[in-house]
Amino acid sequence: MSLIEKLNWRYATKKFDATKKLSKEQLDTLLHAIRLAPSSYGLQSYKVLVVENPEIREQLKAAAYGQPQLTDASQVIVFATETNIDEASVHKYVDNIVATRNIDRSMVEGYEQTMVGTVNRLPDEQKIGWSTKQTYIALGVLLTAAAEIGVDACPMEGFEAGKFDEILGLKEKGLAATVIATIGFRAHDDHYSHLAKVRKPAEELFIHI
Ligand SMILES: Cc1cc2nc3c(=O)[nH]c(=O)nc-3n(C[C@H](O)[C@H](O)[C@H](O)COP(=O)(O)O)c2cc1C
Repeated sequence: MSLIEKLNWRYATKKFDATKKLSKEQLDTLLHAIRLAPSSYGLQSYKVLVVENPEIREQLKAAAYGQPQLTDASQVIVFATETNIDEASVHKYVDNIVATRNIDRSMVEGYEQTMVGTVNRLPDEQKIGWSTKQTYIALGVLLTAAAEIGVDACPMEGFEAGKFDEILGLKEKGLAATVIATIGFRAHDDHYSHLAKVRKPAEELFIHI
């Protein structure tokens, strides 16, 4: 299948086959893809929780308006925004650049100062908004990677974020649940799997200049 065929194959899965689980290799591939997602400055200002515990998932389902994907999918992936991005986060990231690329810190000092300027300049609310946007890029990469390897997924915003934070103990970790994806395998009788894709016509969506 071509990439376009795979993107047509994927859909927001409403009904998962609860008996089917991802192999370790499939899960590892998807987590690796999330790790490779681009982010502003490369700061990756979020964490990603992989929730498998059945009792926790029952609680999450109740906080997600009873949507069955929360318990029937193979895993629940929660993208949680870091709410306290600060100078220390930037320094830690620069430490990683220096170590990974084996370069002298002086080579990235200017970049470091630019990032520090950004995190110090933005009011908390805007900073969290900025970080939140990054999680959606990671979500998009996950959805595409899942389609690529034949794993079904449902991106989901239909949940009470405050309740998710409580259930998962996110607030005390400086995190806030932003968006989730349930991943697994479609049930053979999920009638959504047979519906035609509804998208704007290209001439309405794209503006060529
Ligand atoms: C950010 C986001 C949040 C969504 N939230 C939900 C949700 O809570 N429950 C659900 O069943 N589908 C949810 N969807 C799925 C969309 O309804 C679906 O992607 C859209 O209708 C396009 O259909 P397709 O993905 O099947 O092609 C969400 C999608 C996105 C991108």
